[in-house]
Amino acid sequence: MTTADFVVVANRLPVDRVVSADGEETWRTSPGGLVAALEPVMKQVDGAWVGWAGQADLELEPFTANDIRLIPIALSAQEVAEYYEGFANDTIWPLYHDVIAPPQYHREWWDAYVAVNRRFAEAAAAAAAENGTVWVHDYQLQLVPEMVRALRPDVTIGYFHHIPFPMHGLYAQLPWRDQVLRGLLGADVVGFQRAQDATYFLAAVRRRLKYEVKSTTVVVPGENGDRTVISKAFPISIETTPYLELAARPEVQARALEIRESLGNPKRILLGVDRLDYTKGIRHRIKAYGELLAEGRLNVEDVTLIQVASPSRERVDAYINLRDEIELAVSRINGDTDTMQHTAIRYLHQGYPRDEMVALYLAADVMLVTALRDGMNLVAKEYVASRIDNRGVLVLSEFTGAADELRQAVRVNPHDIEDLKDAIMTAVEMTPGEQGKRMRSLRRRVLEHDVLAWSSSFLEALSAARSSRP
Ligand code: G6P
Repeated sequence: MTTADFVVVANRLPVDRVVSADGEETWRTSPGGLVAALEPVMKQVDGAWVGWAGQADLELEPFTANDIRLIPIALSAQEVAEYYEGFANDTIWPLYHDVIAPPQYHREWWDAYVAVNRRFAEAAAAAAAENGTVWVHDYQLQLVPEMVRALRPDVTIGYFHHIPFPMHGLYAQLPWRDQVLRGLLGADVVGFQRAQDATYFLAAVRRRLKYEVKSTTVVVPGENGDRTVISKAFPISIETTPYLELAARPEVQARALEIRESLGNPKRILLGVDRLDYTKGIRHRIKAYGELLAEGRLNVEDVTLIQVASPSRERVDAYINLRDEIELAVSRINGDTDTMQHTAIRYLHQGYPRDEMVALYLAADVMLVTALRDGMNLVAKEYVASRIDNRGVLVLSEFTGAADELRQAVRVNPHDIEDLKDAIMTAVEMTPGEQGKRMRSLRRRVLEHDVLAWSSSFLEALSAARSSRP
């Protein structure tokens, strides 16, 4: 097998296999921020990507797509249920997002998580060239760094955590809390989104494993002497060029006008774009907006909320229930307030290609990002990058990683419905002058700290770690 100097390991491949009704096989870009962030990085190096094709019981040979060499990992239907839907998305995901939904702890799920992490680690160890680099991503694969190190002590290992890391009082619930910390500490560099996440991780390492922690460095004792691990924040970003280019295209701008037209030319369009996930605060947003309409502070003739909620993890109970709750709330508000010409909420349980997303961003006077907890939230950055006209207002939850950087957004605590209502009104009423002032500053930040700046800073830390190795 050919090896690669640079191996990315992530739960998902950058493309999912989809089979149409007539049996034709196509590949579609995978959902979520991780893939969006890494694809442009991979295009610049000669590397390989180890991941799952998004479907159970699919055995595939390595292949190349969009110039990236892909190494597929097969998961059985039971592994999808126990490792992916179970441990990753019904244990770790809710625990790490402040237990917004109750995490489930099942020993069989943990066993499946260990077994699947080992499969990923073995594939990565086999794919990496002598003294190469392996970059492991996200909460589905927290044991992989330690497993790769055991198999391949010669390689340099990075781990980046795309979601929050919880404070110790919550993290301590995890029955396998020590094993997970040791898994992560197999890496030379453990990166997080926010400084706060790194602080929580280092505190857990100090308290649980009693390792020495000095500022961003952990001393990990081992049979062959001590190793040092660096852990700090590397806030992720987006590839800005495609957004700038799409936003400048006449047909995309025409599409934005057409969207406004088709909603009856409201004075203000509000927009929410999320995976349908309980972390995103979609219910809070809809509640606040519904109250503003009911109280007459907003009028359905003047405003429309477009809510794009793309389908996600549809077999996990918490997601099934959330969908019911949101759809009930949307239809109640629409039923109470719609007229023949105007709708309060245009709800779309669908995903859209990037050009349509940019048209939506251009049509949106107000972008609502009201997550209850979010590692970063790249939608906020996509909106800002797309507003080449320096118009529009970003309402941004303080519980997102993006809030650390996007200081000129209208900040909001989404748990406080009155605060959320006031933030929406502030955004709806903001003068063009004030919008321009804030948007220019937001854009400066996003354009300077794009995804290549993110990956360069992580990879620099990794190469510094490599050269400091004995
Ligand atoms: C978030 C996670 C990613 C995940 C994505 C989509 O962005 O950080 O690791 O891939 O959501 O979720 P899914 O379960 O569909 O992969």
